[in-house]
Amino acid sequence: MTKRATFTTKLGVIAATAGSSVGLGNIWRFPYETGQNGGAAFLLLYFICVLVLGLPVMVAEFTIGRSARANASRAFLKLTPKTHWYVVGVLGIFAAVFIMGFYSVIAGWTLDYVYQSLTFGLADKSPEQFQTAFTQFTADAVRPIFWTFLFLSINYVILVKGVQNGIEKASNILMPVLFILLVIFGVRSLFMPGAAEGLSFMFKPDFSKVDSGIILKAMGQAFFSLSLGMGTLITYASYFSDRTSLVKTAGTVATLDTLVAIMAGIVIFPAVFSFGISPSQGPQLIFITLPNVFQQMPGAYFWSLLFFVLVSVAALTSTISLCEVAISYLHEEFGMSRRRATLILVLVCFFMSTLCSLSFGPLRQVTIGSLTIFDFCDFLSSNILLPLGGLLIAIYVGWVLDKKFVRNQISDGGRINVWYFDLLMISLRFIAPVAISLIFLSGLGLF
Ligand code: PHE
Repeated sequence: MTKRATFTTKLGVIAATAGSSVGLGNIWRFPYETGQNGGAAFLLLYFICVLVLGLPVMVAEFTIGRSARANASRAFLKLTPKTHWYVVGVLGIFAAVFIMGFYSVIAGWTLDYVYQSLTFGLADKSPEQFQTAFTQFTADAVRPIFWTFLFLSINYVILVKGVQNGIEKASNILMPVLFILLVIFGVRSLFMPGAAEGLSFMFKPDFSKVDSGIILKAMGQAFFSLSLGMGTLITYASYFSDRTSLVKTAGTVATLDTLVAIMAGIVIFPAVFSFGISPSQGPQLIFITLPNVFQQMPGAYFWSLLFFVLVSVAALTSTISLCEVAISYLHEEFGMSRRRATLILVLVCFFMSTLCSLSFGPLRQVTIGSLTIFDFCDFLSSNILLPLGGLLIAIYVGWVLDKKFVRNQISDGGRINVWYFDLLMISLRFIAPVAISLIFLSGLGLF
């Protein structure tokens, strides 16, 4: 097996892990899911899921990864030899491919917006014109696929070279900049006419809209946004140093991730109501809302360019982590060279992405259980595979691993005071498995 690297600085651990978590899930998916599922009530359910289910599962993934120091599948074999738990890791690889399929399409759209920002394509348009131009663009059979291809090629180059170091250093700077930009846009958005309506949509819950389907989606969004349930954080934790505090890291990453999502919401919803756009637009929401916001600001050219570049980078740090799960598996388990493993993975992802992209145009009619191919990949991975992975991981750390061993890992051999340990175990043993199973079964209409 290859010698495993470790992150050297505390900031490096946080930046890489937060880089994986913060991505299109926060800036693109969170606002549109909130918009489609009734606003504030969804937000509240999302918070609860992050706190009660997401955090414990994140600590569980860190525990598995750091103690085993292996890829997401091998880690289970190392900790519990001769069992079938490694299947959880294999499941994660399927989830990675499905997520990459639709995620790369959105990342491609973002790159197109970088290009359009550069070439004044986003200037001087009415909200209706933005909408029409966007619908035409996404329905095109070639242009979005070209950008998706470009995005995947960038992934390939970075992953083959393994310049995680570069990415890590870059995200140390770029992630804070992205955050500051969101604050600036948020302030601008808050001063738009109609902002109050947007804020009340986001923060004033209307529980009459809540049903089990919405709870399932809130849980899916929590797992998706925190990069949980598919081995990404097992893989990243295998690079943590022995001194990294697992619980503190989980707390910091979850807090940052949630803050970025809220900021994105504060940018989007006031603007949505101000420009008379429907909040339940779906995947196109940010692409038709944000250009309107930029247009209202002095220096629109600069803001929109900077923003879409940073969102592309945020997407890239997430896809790198997604691909890494599969690449480390192929590389370590099948003895494939890193280059070959990366090439195979990127080609498979490109195939999936092409189908997803075409599902906005020529393949619009092709549906799987009433969902387009794009929506199907999104639904299957976020709402089914990730919570299922999370469920199994919770059971594994709660019931299968030795309690003393887990305590030892989390407390760093007794160095850290883990007064919350029993709470964590109760959550992993009972709350998470029961809640995830119930939400699952009722959300899918099986219960
Ligand atoms: N958390 C990432 C985002 O919010 C997406 C992701 C999901 C990354 C699962 C890795 C694993 O954009």
